[in-house]
Amino acid sequence: MIKRIRSWWMQKDSPKPMDITKDNIPEHVAIIMDGNGRWAKRLGLPRIVGHHNGMKAVKRATIAADELGIKYLTMYTFSTENWKRPKDEVDFLMRLPQEFLAIELDELIERNVQIRMMGDKEGLPSHTLKAMEDAVQLTAGNDGLVLNFALNYGGRKEITDGMILLGQEIEAGRLKAEDITPTLIENHLKTYGLPDPDLLIRTSGEMRISNFMLWQLAYSELWFTDIYWPEFNEDHLHDAVAEYQRRTRRYGGLS
Ligand code: IPE
Ligand code: IPE
Ligand code: MG
Repeated sequence: MIKRIRSWWMQKDSPKPMDITKDNIPEHVAIIMDGNGRWAKRLGLPRIVGHHNGMKAVKRATIAADELGIKYLTMYTFSTENWKRPKDEVDFLMRLPQEFLAIELDELIERNVQIRMMGDKEGLPSHTLKAMEDAVQLTAGNDGLVLNFALNYGGRKEITDGMILLGQEIEAGRLKAEDITPTLIENHLKTYGLPDPDLLIRTSGEMRISNFMLWQLAYSELWFTDIYWPEFNEDHLHDAVAEYQRRTRRYGGLS
């Protein structure tokens, strides 16, 4: 595996985001990629063109995150509520993962990226699931950036599923209700093994969570921007990280 050392602070001649320090890079960044439809509408184009261009922004964000030294990047790709959209749009969205991977997987492998997926596998078309699972399997041994796609993901469903698993363990006599701890709950969520997001980014001017990582965002720093997702580039990620570095995280304590 070729390991690229391309972080901007190691490249003397590359433009550096001057206001980012390398010792406080968020370990886990989660992104609610929103505004594809409005971006397209503004240009008088069909919504799906927005989704297609959003895919290119996923590539830009991934490379920028990798080069900054972010370890985990979680992308909200399709929510459990997005099935409410017109069938044509859903069908288009369900074809994007395989298109993205067909174009980008080689470079992601070269960059040592490990692809993960979290969300309900049931309900996904088999072609979507196969493309994702193949990529997960092919990159499982990589130890670079973890690119985690939240696909058919909903925070409430995730917590509900985790509670069902715990309930089954209690029913089977393997667990006592009073032994449930926050750590045990975390171990039954789809983010098992991932740290909580340090930074949540949402594009398109909406300031809500939309059922994303409800448990895990408890102490994440939130960063909102008015730009639409297809416009997102490395400068926006740098702005978000620079702002993150100006925040004081207190976790309920005192600074
Ligand atoms: C985000 O863009 C992509 C998904 C939710 C799948 P939208 O499709 O929500 O775009 P807007 O919010 O309608 O502009
Ligand atoms: C959140 O965006 C879901 C994803 C980005 C995949 P939505 O566009 O679905 O959220 P709402 O409906 O505006 O809350
Ligand atoms: Mg939206």
